[in-house]
Amino acid sequence: MTLIRATLVISLLVYALYVVLNIHKRKRFPPSPTGFPILGHLYLLAGKNPHQHLQKLAKKYGPMMYVQLGLVPAIVISSVDAAEKVLKTYDHIFASRPHSEASQYLSYGQKNLIFAKYGVYWRNMRKLCTVHLLSNHKINSFQSMRKQELQLLIESIKKEADHDRVVVDLSARILSLNANLTCLMIFGKKCMDEDLDKREFKAIVQDVVDLASTPNLGDFFPFLGVIDLQGLNRKLKDLSMVFDEFLERIIDEHVEYHDRDQTKDFVDTMMDIMQSGEAEFQFDRRHVKAILLDMLLAAMDTTASTAEWILTELLRHPQVMKKLQNELQEVVGLERMVEEPDMENLNYLNMVVNEGLRLHPAVPLFFHEAMEDCVVDDFHIQKGTRIIINCYAIHRDPNVWPDPEKFFPERFVGSSIDFRGRDFQLLPFGSGRRSCPGMQLGVTIVRLMVAQLVHCFEWELPNGIDACDLDIDEKFGMVTCREKPLLAMPTYRLKK
Ligand code: HEM
Repeated sequence: MTLIRATLVISLLVYALYVVLNIHKRKRFPPSPTGFPILGHLYLLAGKNPHQHLQKLAKKYGPMMYVQLGLVPAIVISSVDAAEKVLKTYDHIFASRPHSEASQYLSYGQKNLIFAKYGVYWRNMRKLCTVHLLSNHKINSFQSMRKQELQLLIESIKKEADHDRVVVDLSARILSLNANLTCLMIFGKKCMDEDLDKREFKAIVQDVVDLASTPNLGDFFPFLGVIDLQGLNRKLKDLSMVFDEFLERIIDEHVEYHDRDQTKDFVDTMMDIMQSGEAEFQFDRRHVKAILLDMLLAAMDTTASTAEWILTELLRHPQVMKKLQNELQEVVGLERMVEEPDMENLNYLNMVVNEGLRLHPAVPLFFHEAMEDCVVDDFHIQKGTRIIINCYAIHRDPNVWPDPEKFFPERFVGSSIDFRGRDFQLLPFGSGRRSCPGMQLGVTIVRLMVAQLVHCFEWELPNGIDACDLDIDEKFGMVTCREKPLLAMPTYRLKK
C-alpha cells in the first residue's frame, strides 16, 4: 500500500514538473482529444481494440492527432498523406523505435532488429538479415520443404474429409502448419512442446507476443519500469529464460551435427557468418540468438492470422471462393496440388490476399520514434515523440477505398496498388526504412496456404453457424487474432 501511495505521489510530482516545463516551450501541436491528468490518453491503448478506438477519434481530430501517453508524447497517423510524410518525406527522422521494456528481455541487450534504435548497428544487422536470411534466393531454397509440409496437411485433412461431415478446426491447422514451416526454416526441425520446458510451443510464442504488445506502464513512466506494477517484466523475463535455454540447445546441436548437404537453416547461416567474421561488426552467439528470436516472433502469428482471416472472408463470401476455385482449376487443374511457380499466374488469388491484408492487417498499429525536433504540416513534433501508424484506419479510409468495410477483391483489378506500401494506401508491412523485411516470405506463405486449402477442398460451415455469424471480433495486441476458432467442413475436390 505504502509503495503504491509513494508511486502515485512521485508520478504526480513528475507530471506537474513536466506540465510546467512544457508551458514555456508550447508550440503548435496537432489536435488532441481530452486526456486525464497523469495518464493522459493511455486509456486509449488499454482497451481491446486500440486501432479501432484511434480510428474513431481520428475522424474527429484529424489524420495527425496528438495523444499524451503518460510522459510520452505521441502522434497518431491515420491517412495516406500523413503516412507518406512520416514514412517517406521525413523517414530519416522517424525511422527509430521507441523505448520498450519488453525489448530488454527479448533483444539480448539491444542486439536484435525489431526493437533496435535507428543507427549503424540497425543498418548493419538489417542488411545482414535481408541478404542472408530473407533474400528471394534464401526463401526459394525452402520451397520443397513448404511443399512437403503442405502435402502432409492436405493428406491429413483429406483422411478426415473421407468421414462424413467432419468439422475441422482451421485456425489450429493453420497455426500448426505455420509453426512447422517457421521452425523448419529457422531451426531446421519442427519444434515440439518438450523443446520449451514441456510447455506448448505455440502457446508460449503467443504469450510472448501478447506480453510484448500489452501496454507496459514502464514504457510511459520510465521510473516505473523497475517497479513492474503489472508484473509484465517478470513474466517476460521467465519466458525469455525458457527461450534462451532452447536457443542455446539448438545452437549446440547445430555445432555438433553440421550436415553440409542439407539446405542451410537460419541457425546454420548465422553460425557461418559468426565463424567467418564477415559481419564487419561484433557478432557473437548473443547476436545469433537475438536474430533467431526476432524471426520466430515476427513470423509465427502474423502469417497465420493473415491466412486465417482470408479464409474467414472466403467462407463469408462464397461467390469469391468459387471465383478463386475457378481460377485455380483453370491455371492448375484438378489433377495436382498448387505449386509455388503457379503463383505468378494466379491474379485473382493475389487480389484476394491483398484484400485480406487490407481489411485485416496483422499489425494494425506500428510504432516509430522521432529522432529530432521537426515540423510536419505546420505541426511541431518534438524529439522522442512516438509515431503510431494506424494502418487499420488508412486501409478503411472511405476517401481512398470506396465501400471500405466490404471484402471486395475486384477493387484491385487494373490497380497498381500492392502490399509493398509504395503508395501508402496499403501498408500491412509498413513502408520505408523500417518496413517489414519478411514481407515477401509472409506473402508467399499466405498465398500458398490459402490457394492450397481452397483448391483441394470445398469448405462448408458446420450446422448452426451462419456465414455472417463468423466471429470478426479482434483481440487486443499487435497481432489481431480471432477469438473463436474457425471451424469448417471439408470435401476433397482433386481427382486423386
Ligand atoms: C503476413 C505477415 C507479416 C506481416 C503483416 C508483417 C508486418 C510487419 C510490420 C507492420 C512491421 C513494422 C513496419 C514498420 O515499423 O514500419 C514489421 C517489421 C518486421 N518484420 Fe514483419 N510482418 C510479417 C511477416 C514477417 C516475417 C515472415 C518475418 C521474418 C521471418 C518478419 C520480420 C520482421 C522484422 C525483422 C521486422 C522489423 C524490421 C525493422 O525494424 O527494421 N515479418 N512486420
